[in-house]
Amino acid sequence: MRITMIGSGYVGLVSGVCFADFGHDVICVDKDKSKIDALEKGVMPIYEPGLDQIVAENVKSGRLTFSTDVQNSVKDADVVFIAVGTPSRRGDGHADLSYVYAAAKEIAEHCTGFTVVVTKSTVPVGTGDEVERIVKEANPNADIAVVSNPEFLREGAAIEDFKRPDRIVIGLDDDRARGVMTEVYRPLYLNQAPLLFTARRTSELIKYAANGFLAMKITFINEIADLCEKVGANVQDVSRGIGLDGRIGAKFLHAGPGYGGSCFPKDTLALAKTAQDHESPMRLIETTISINDNRKRAMGRKVISALEGDVRGKKIAVLGLTFKPNTDDMRDSPAIAVIQTLQDSGATVAAYDPEGMENAKKLIEGIEYVAGPYEAIADADAIVIVTEWNQFRALDLPRAKGMMKSPVLVDLRNIYRPAEVAKHGFAYHGIGLN
Ligand SMILES: NC(=O)c1ccc[n+]([C@@H]2O[C@H](COP(=O)([O-])OP(=O)(O)OC[C@H]3O[C@@H](n4cnc5c(N)ncnc54)[C@H](O)[C@@H]3O)[C@@H](O)[C@H]2O)c1
Repeated sequence: MRITMIGSGYVGLVSGVCFADFGHDVICVDKDKSKIDALEKGVMPIYEPGLDQIVAENVKSGRLTFSTDVQNSVKDADVVFIAVGTPSRRGDGHADLSYVYAAAKEIAEHCTGFTVVVTKSTVPVGTGDEVERIVKEANPNADIAVVSNPEFLREGAAIEDFKRPDRIVIGLDDDRARGVMTEVYRPLYLNQAPLLFTARRTSELIKYAANGFLAMKITFINEIADLCEKVGANVQDVSRGIGLDGRIGAKFLHAGPGYGGSCFPKDTLALAKTAQDHESPMRLIETTISINDNRKRAMGRKVISALEGDVRGKKIAVLGLTFKPNTDDMRDSPAIAVIQTLQDSGATVAAYDPEGMENAKKLIEGIEYVAGPYEAIADADAIVIVTEWNQFRALDLPRAKGMMKSPVLVDLRNIYRPAEVAKHGFAYHGIGLN
């Protein structure tokens, strides 16, 4: 199959290179020339474990190329994936579909022969209908089928997730497109990944329902954690106690500083807006959004109370800035609100993140970015672990204590055992632990 990916970000690039690895011929297109220039030099525009190697292998084999030229890249394609961003629209929180629609128009103008246009971007129910309308308007003679194929990969484990998905969801109502999509995913199908064919609108909704449910699950355990702190219970034991129930499942039951990232915040918001527009409000999702928004600043206040309610003039070492480990993605990271709250209360912040500092600098100003965890910890009044990167799991606590003004550890990811930290003379504050 000749496949073109429009958009070479976290989803487009990973999907594109994995399709090439399956044996398809793939062109990854992006409007951002700096991304394509970097890719052509073998430099990855994002941090994703294992990505550079699989890109290099597939470029070498000749199956993967990069381009900024939509016109030439779509004209011979059998399948064109749209994998552009769908951020929250300023003002009302709906998904901003302008990039999707612009891509659809360009594809329609330049494709030749039967072409399957697949929306991989996360898009609200009914977007496929609008894409179809745009395509027909832009090129009434185009022979195009519009398909929905939402992506479920997680940053940090994206390649593994793409190659071994729990399921592949494909929404369509065109038999020719069904044949093409089956061919595109044949290598995975042979690996027994279930291909779930649905109507297009259903497929679009599956993606939002999945993200809404997961966001709700995280928010649920976060509220249980708050209750644990009030009643003297332990949230980690509660998580295990409920997670072993097969109907509930153990994943996404880690209490923490609230969900962030490029998907859950915007997708829950877009789902709530879609539901409101159809007079079928989703109050569980609306409440999830509001609890999570409040939680991020509450985590900043938690740090302040760990320092007896006053951080003015104090130095806080923030370890981890990205919304989760193994990515450089800072979009909607809880670190942003935590740091803002500390700054608002007069603290100074020194921060370290293994991969996210370049992106963080564009979003968080007025803090010191340092070269390693101990540079942040030097002379600090407290350490706050915001992201559970592996290298923060085994800090040399005696060394850290010797460098600090006061030995306080606020562990927003519960990666330490309270008793062990206390043994080293630290005041330890986890989430939902007492
Ligand atoms: N990041 C994730 O973990 C993830 C997971 C599942 C689904 N998604 C969804 O996938 C979509 C893409 O997300 P992402 O994180 O990869 O976004 P991203 O911002 O990393 O990448 C999007 C890319 O599209 C490019 N682009 C925009 N318009 C273009 C056009 N007309 N032609 C060519 N390139 C164009 C941009 O320059 C950018 O590089 C979103 O809808 C998102 O919700 C993301």
